[in-house]
This record gives sequence, structure tokens and C-alpha cells, in this order.
Amino acid sequence: MPLISPSLLSMDFAHVERDVVMLNNSQADWLHLDIMDGVFVPNISFGFPVVEAIARYARKPLDVHLMTIHPEKYVAELQRLGAYVVNVHYEACVHLHRTVHLIKDAGMQAAVTLNPHTPVNVLEDIVGDLYAVMLMSVNPGFGGQQFIPHTLEKTKRLKRLIQESGSKALIEIDGGVNRTTGRALVDSGADVLVAGSAVFRAPSPEEEINALKAL
Ligand code: DX5
Ligand code: ZN
Repeated sequence: MPLISPSLLSMDFAHVERDVVMLNNSQADWLHLDIMDGVFVPNISFGFPVVEAIARYARKPLDVHLMTIHPEKYVAELQRLGAYVVNVHYEACVHLHRTVHLIKDAGMQAAVTLNPHTPVNVLEDIVGDLYAVMLMSVNPGFGGQQFIPHTLEKTKRLKRLIQESGSKALIEIDGGVNRTTGRALVDSGADVLVAGSAVFRAPSPEEEINALKAL
């Protein structure tokens, strides 16, 4: 059974409490929070005051996805807000090892995210230190984009890399995940599915989470 991490990027920001309480009462495992800086990605989402508002109502672990340059600058603030997983982009970190250990030393779970064009083997020497590796199955910056099919083969390669290195890292996938792509991803070795529009645009978000959970 995959872990499900609904992306709050697609929620109704005029109803933060309502939507977070809905997720608290659903089968969602984590809450996925997308922080964008308008530099690393061509969009700006929300910052720490909004994360704080979400955290006030959230009763599930916060899975933070930093789509920013210099993600190390935000680790202390995320620790203060009680984040569980901190996902930083490989492409945004010159000193990835240092950033990963900064996150771990702050008592949070360190995860590294790869853009669609970045091969999994760049993680060979860090995967043993990671709680999760997240593969972007769209180019980051926006919800509601089309799943890139190449991610299935990439997920299998990542699974092999993790097994060969003796790491216990989870495989998380973000972008264009729905029941169909989710099924194929679980078959390819995915452990955690992030889903934004599939959940929040469904007639019943709770039922959609149940369906993803049952994959
Ligand atoms: C995109 C974000 C995703 C986004 C996914 O850059 O990282 O988490 O919310 O949205 P969907 O599931 O609609 O592709
Ligand atoms: Zn994300």
C-alpha cells in the first residue's frame, strides 16, 4: 500500500481549515507542501506564514517540497514549524551532503528531489543518507500537468540503485499522479504518491485518496 501525500497546492486557500481538517479525517498519510520562490521554478506559491496556518490545523506529518534556490536557508524555520520531511532539489544544492545533514541534525527527515532530466545515478554517494528520494514526474512549478511516462522506467532504476546501495530510502513521486499513473508507479516500485489536482478536483477528495491508497 503506497503512502499518499496530497499536495495542498491544489486546495482552496480561502478554506485552509476546512481542507486540512478534511485531510486529517482522510486516509492521507502526509500533507505535501509546495514552496516555490519564482527563481528555481517559474512560479511563486506560498511561504512560511501559510505553512504556519496549515500546521496549526494539520494532524498529519508535513512533507515539505522546497522549490527554491538555497534551500538550506529555510531549514531552521521548517524545524520551528514542525516539518517532518524536507525535500530539497538536487539541482538547487551545490553542497547537497551538507544540506542533507543540516536537515537531519535539525531532527527532520531528509529527502532529495530530482527534476525529470536528472538521472538517478547522481545520488549514488548520498542515497544511503536519505529518508526518501522524490522523482518529479512533471517539470516543477505548477499543479495539473501531464505525467511524463519516462518516470516509470526511472522509478525502476532508482529502486535498483537503492537496493544495491543497501539504503532504505522511500521512493516518492510528484506530478501528474492519478489512479492510472499511480497504479503503474506502484508496480514500478513507488512508495509514496503525491497528488494535487487528482485529489482536490475529484468530486470527493476523500474517496479519491481511498482509491489511491488502495492501489
Ligand atoms: C509541482 C508540485 C506538485 C503539484 C502536483 O511543482 O511539486 O506537488 O502540486 O500537482 P498535480 O498532482 O496536480 O500534478
Ligand atoms: Zn511537490
